[in-house]
Amino acid sequence: MSLQRIDEFAKSIIFEAGKRIRNAFSYNLVIETKSNANDLVTNIDRETELFFIEKIKTFDPTHKILGEEGMGEKVESLDGIVWIIDPIDGTMNFVKQHRHFMISIGIFINGIGKLGYIFDVMREDLFYAVAGEGAWYNDSPLRKLQPVSIEESVIGINASWVAPNRHIHHEKVIELIRKVRGTRSYGSAAMEIAFVVSGKLDAYVSMRLSPWDIAGGTIIAKEVGAIATNLHGEDFDFLNQDTFIIANPSIHKELLDKYIVPYR
Ligand code: IPD
Ligand code: CA
Ligand code: CA
Ligand code: CA
Repeated sequence: MSLQRIDEFAKSIIFEAGKRIRNAFSYNLVIETKSNANDLVTNIDRETELFFIEKIKTFDPTHKILGEEGMGEKVESLDGIVWIIDPIDGTMNFVKQHRHFMISIGIFINGIGKLGYIFDVMREDLFYAVAGEGAWYNDSPLRKLQPVSIEESVIGINASWVAPNRHIHHEKVIELIRKVRGTRSYGSAAMEIAFVVSGKLDAYVSMRLSPWDIAGGTIIAKEVGAIATNLHGEDFDFLNQDTFIIANPSIHKELLDKYIVPYR
């Protein structure tokens, strides 16, 4: 089956899922907590993941699906065609703000990212990429990122990393925050990644993300020249949680060498 056929199908189910999520605001959300009181999940997160699984399995039962809510089969390798799906990235924003949440999907073939999608459900804005062919924001091609200095950068980072913590040297983060033009925190990793690949942010950093938070975004990143790694500068492990940075290529190394320095 051609990549183009899979791409057309992926877009069609993303738009359909988006419509279902927007309609869901007219009836009650059932909100539950997962690992802690701030880790929310709703019936719509689960229903959306199930929707994707049913559609994809009907399209081609050999495709495998790794989703945040665990509604699909257990995926232990990236052999074959694997969809890595976050049905709603930014569940807290979904519940509290009714906006600023994304559908995030990466499609891998034998471990190589081929198609990436980040869909802003309320704005109906799609960021996507086809490996080797380019990236787009709706109908407009996304340009290669232009060089930027640390002093000119706007960085997506969570405020908690300026307080003493067990992950990174917080005093270096304070130094970074004094130096850059500004910082932002949007509450959806996929949204922050979409902003980096489209030049609206120059970097985004997180101490712990899962494959579904970044799968779509890293595929788009490659097409515009953004660099995505863990905080040790290594490739992210798509089957486990890891630290994460995505940045304009002109500042990625400097950020890791001087400012976002993990312990160990
Ligand atoms: C979360 C969001 C958030 C990030 C968390 C993720 P979810 O995803 O991307 O911005 O800081 O680490 O878990 O749970 O809303 O899909
Ligand atoms: Ca979640
Ligand atoms: Ca997520
Ligand atoms: Ca989610």
